[in-house]
Amino acid sequence: MNKMVTGIVIGASLIAGTAIAAGDIAAGKTKSAVCAACHGADGIAVIPGYPNLKGQNEQYIISSVKAYKAKQRNGGLAVVMQAQAAMLSDADIENLAAYYSSLK
Ligand code: HEC
Repeated sequence: MNKMVTGIVIGASLIAGTAIAAGDIAAGKTKSAVCAACHGADGIAVIPGYPNLKGQNEQYIISSVKAYKAKQRNGGLAVVMQAQAAMLSDADIENLAAYYSSLK
């Protein structure tokens, strides 16, 4: 019985841990003000040729922005995003990804 309770407690804290690690949509929305100049206030790009972010897959946003930050994503207009990504922390990136992926 005791083992079962311990298992439940560990299981619950693992779930809680995941929730804390996930991006904060409200913080992402605040941070997205700088992104809006190019990607639009609603995540629909205002400049032809620039990508929309609205409803984009959360993990894809995280991995692509981290790739720009690490300068692993190059070519095309990547240099524009490398400058943007350089100013973001990992938490900022996760929050922004949570925000843009939440837009329907
Ligand atoms: C000065 C304009 C500009 C700003 C500001 C900007 N971006 Fe971008 N972003 C771009 C351009 C241009 C691309 C396409 C780059 C390429 O060709 O790889 C892009 C690409 C991206 C991509 C990859 C999209 C895809 O479909 O592969 C993501 C994600 C992204 N930006 C997120 C952000 C976030 C988050 C912010 C705010 C912190 C931001 N951008 C600010 C211009 C901008």
